[in-house]
Amino acid sequence: MKIAVLPGDGIGPEVTAQALKVLDVFAREGMALEFEHALIGGCAYDATGHPLPGATLALARDADAILFGAEGGFQYETLPRGLRPGDALLTVRRELDLFANFRPVVAWPELVGASPLKAARLDGLDLLILRELTGDLYFGEPRGVHMENGVRVGINTMRYDENEIRRIAHVAFRTARARRHRVCSVDKANVLESMELWREIVDEVAREYPDVTLEHLYVDAAAMSLLRTPQHFDVIVTGNLFGDILSDEASMLTGSIGMLPSASMGDGKKGLYEPVHGCAPDIAGRDLANPLASILSAAMMLRMSFDQHEAAARVERAVRRVLASGYRTADIAEPGTKRIGTAQMGDLVVAALA
Ligand code: IPM
Ligand code: MG
Repeated sequence: MKIAVLPGDGIGPEVTAQALKVLDVFAREGMALEFEHALIGGCAYDATGHPLPGATLALARDADAILFGAEGGFQYETLPRGLRPGDALLTVRRELDLFANFRPVVAWPELVGASPLKAARLDGLDLLILRELTGDLYFGEPRGVHMENGVRVGINTMRYDENEIRRIAHVAFRTARARRHRVCSVDKANVLESMELWREIVDEVAREYPDVTLEHLYVDAAAMSLLRTPQHFDVIVTGNLFGDILSDEASMLTGSIGMLPSASMGDGKKGLYEPVHGCAPDIAGRDLANPLASILSAAMMLRMSFDQHEAAARVERAVRRVLASGYRTADIAEPGTKRIGTAQMGDLVVAALA
């Protein structure tokens, strides 16, 4: 199994290093894991003049799985489009056709106090945001800024074709079958034609899964329900932009965005695994970042790309044990817990794996 390791910028390298420590435990136990590193994002731009060098894209294509850290940084925000770090990640997702983004949101009982929500709202919370990742406003044409009658106009296009909707809907229903058999499709069909089509196709696909309950919510109502009745949700399927926004909102249910892993899949077993959080330049290099989202992303890799279900469960149990022992990075620290840094959190998870 070849893993492309793309740590990227900011806290990306330090959290990815912890996930690699964890994967290394399995390599030492005999799992055939092979790691190859490459540059992506701002560091790649600095080194080569492009955030996604050809060699990095080639490695990502060739690998069985990709472990990605984060990318970006203040100094890159004014670069022309196409050269910004975020564009590299979008290109990898699109070029590899990784259209299905899994963002599980689980309330760890040890962390309910770290969430701004009342504990009673979080008990047993276990939902999955399934975000379509290669369409929508992110990629729709036309786009850009141009002059119209002497004024500048900015344009982006919300675009989905029926096949794109159909394939993500199938993933949603198949995934729900392995969970609690409920799908909530989130759209804005009351205002947007593209979302009216979304709803129509999701309804059509639903007829093939009579054992799965489907409901539809408009995105504004979904944003509210995520805070009001989060335990109600099982699989939430939605488009690229709404999924981006709702997954950051949902992260606060878990106490910190530093706890949220993700997997981006195509039709096969190959996946890109990354923490949902960004590069956090304000805390980069200071041993402050929470590596658990990256470690839990590695667990998703073991499960979804390599079919190593027991290994994945072992990682999740190890994380659980470390949290239960009271160890916390800054983002999830509470009075009475033990504050530790990024590297020590990685070491403790490795120790708990044994
Ligand atoms: C995410 C991020 C990315 C996105 C950015 C970095 C381009 O916010 O993965 O959620 O918008 O998809
Ligand atoms: Mg986001």
